[in-house]
Amino acid sequence: MVTLGIETTCDESAAAIVKDGKEILSNIVYSQEEHKQFGGVFPELASRRHAELIIPVIDRAITSAGIRPKEIALIGVARGPGLMGSLLVGITAAKALSLAWKIPFIGVNHVEAHLFAPMMTAPNDKKSIGVVLSGGHTFLVAIEGGSYRLLGTTVDDAIGEAFDKVATILGLGYPGGAKLEKLALQGDPNAVSFPSGKVKGSPLNFSFSGLKTSVLYRKNEASPADIAASFQKSAFLDVIEKTLLAATIEGTNRVFLGGGVCQNSRLQEMFTLKAPHLELFFAPPYLCTDNGAMIAAYAFYKYHEGDTFDLEAMPRMGYTIH
Ligand code: KG4
Ligand code: ZN
Repeated sequence: MVTLGIETTCDESAAAIVKDGKEILSNIVYSQEEHKQFGGVFPELASRRHAELIIPVIDRAITSAGIRPKEIALIGVARGPGLMGSLLVGITAAKALSLAWKIPFIGVNHVEAHLFAPMMTAPNDKKSIGVVLSGGHTFLVAIEGGSYRLLGTTVDDAIGEAFDKVATILGLGYPGGAKLEKLALQGDPNAVSFPSGKVKGSPLNFSFSGLKTSVLYRKNEASPADIAASFQKSAFLDVIEKTLLAATIEGTNRVFLGGGVCQNSRLQEMFTLKAPHLELFFAPPYLCTDNGAMIAAYAFYKYHEGDTFDLEAMPRMGYTIH
């Protein structure tokens, strides 16, 4: 079954063609660079750019897949969580094409789709832990029988947001996660001891704002590379400790990881080093950041589970993850 996946939750206008939930025929991602000048995503501008870009991006996805529109049998679209105006553009495109082509469309949870990305190559039929680390979301979930149970989330900033803010503090520009990783390679991770992000009374929740503020106040205590390396170590140790605790509580060693921050090689190295008994399934880098392929694949999976059409956008969908 050929599926078109549409992703417009934030500042990526993306579309992909995926066959049978795993074979990626095309995966077109247009990252809106226009937001760089604002140091973050400007919601109004994002939705306007999505409206301009969505049809050309879908067109390119179809052309580079080498298929004809009538071969598409299903449309998947990210329904939430995300920016309301941006979501509406993707959902409206999906609805219109579904009507025109007389094929079904399904709205899926963007965060769950991030978790489905590593499962495209490693199908998951056992109990496991899911970790989503992205610019907008930080989630720890238990995955069982195809459903998700929330174990922990951030009480303030998302981890990627903290990377971006620290990168801005260090003068690296926005978005700065990848640049921060590169700078950290030349630094000493033990140069500065930053706070750990523990949340009183909820051991599986995350907090990154204290860590971020601490970087702001202590940035002159060491070189930028040392600050970057120390910040990264502190943030990742926190994620690894909480994942280990979740795995112990849930009685599983299998961990699926997705979202933009999971592209970070140091995160993967530290996980292997600190938690060697865990079986880790990382999404490949091109499926870590926002993309249409994970949406198409997850929509295909949901369609075969018997999901019917979801009509409305849900900007706060992540908080009701199930
Ligand atoms: O998943 P994603 O594309 O968007 C959301 O759904 O939010 O993630 C984008 C985030 C940004 O915050 C970016 O700085 C971060 O992922 N990121 C990284 C790296 N590459 C991207 N963070 C740490 N290390 C990286 N190599
Ligand atoms: Zn995302």
